[in-house]
Amino acid sequence: MSAILAVNNAGTAAVADPQPLLKLQNVESAYGPIKAIRGVSLQVRRGEIAAVLGSNGAGKTTILKTISGIIDPRKGTIEFQGQDITARDPAAIVRRGLMHVPEGREVFALLSVHDNLLMGAYTSSDTDAVARDIETVYGYFPILKERAAQDAGLLSGGQQQMLAISRALMANPELILLDEPSLGLSPKLTKEIFEIVVRINRERGTTILLVEQNANMALNASDYGYVLENGRIVMEDSCERLREKDDIKEFYLGMKDEGVRGERRWKKKKTWR
Ligand SMILES: Nc1ncnc2c1ncn2[C@@H]1O[C@H](COP(=O)(O)OP(=O)(O)OP(=O)(O)O)[C@@H](O)[C@H]1O
Ligand SMILES: [Mg+2]
Repeated sequence: MSAILAVNNAGTAAVADPQPLLKLQNVESAYGPIKAIRGVSLQVRRGEIAAVLGSNGAGKTTILKTISGIIDPRKGTIEFQGQDITARDPAAIVRRGLMHVPEGREVFALLSVHDNLLMGAYTSSDTDAVARDIETVYGYFPILKERAAQDAGLLSGGQQQMLAISRALMANPELILLDEPSLGLSPKLTKEIFEIVVRINRERGTTILLVEQNANMALNASDYGYVLENGRIVMEDSCERLREKDDIKEFYLGMKDEGVRGERRWKKKKTWR
């Protein structure tokens, strides 16, 4: 009973929040004639972890690229901290405190781990503060301290993901956009990285919007979730409630055998329950 009340309270807060940290309204983005996302509306409240779940090609990366200004939307608006950032220059969006950890990490392979972190702090001229921030991120990811002098290209996939997240942290952002942190990683490493993402959120108060195919991990780590299918949001709720929905169990968590074998029936679905 109390758990249900807690969920309801969270749900009410989401509706009552007058100014979410990030707000997308009816955003549409396309690559030439291909509409990748259509009418996407979502909100991320300050201090929470929000997740967008979706399978291959659903439009997850496109949402994040549109928020961070890499792609200009055809329609709709994006507000960050109450200000319109739609189609702004990506560098200007970074300066406002929004960092994007891209799909596939994109670390600077020929720079050392340490120098990659310095690149994340390029907006700061306070060398003492930068040195402190580097120690802080090494606290989250001690393996990076051991590898500080090595070229980032020599790190494992998991370590590169850690470095990409750390590089974003170096700018002390308000909001981090995280594109499929689990991509190509073992379940064990994925779990480790998600645990640290949650720690970063709880300890530093950094708001996080992540997109994932790994629904299990994302739903466990996040507060609020959106389900994206073919460029449209088809469902949203607190992650606590999403985990209990039949369609989520069937199509994303693989909890009903007939749903995860053979034909991917969800493609034909019209309504979500
Ligand atoms: N550069 C591009 N040119 C043309 N079409 C693209 C381009 N990038 C993505 N698309 C198309 O836009 C749609 C959404 O792609 P997007 O990369 O956003 O999906 P995603 O959910 O991130 O997928 P994945 O899980 O594979 O990363 C897909 O149909 C994809 O084929
Ligand atoms: Mg993607």
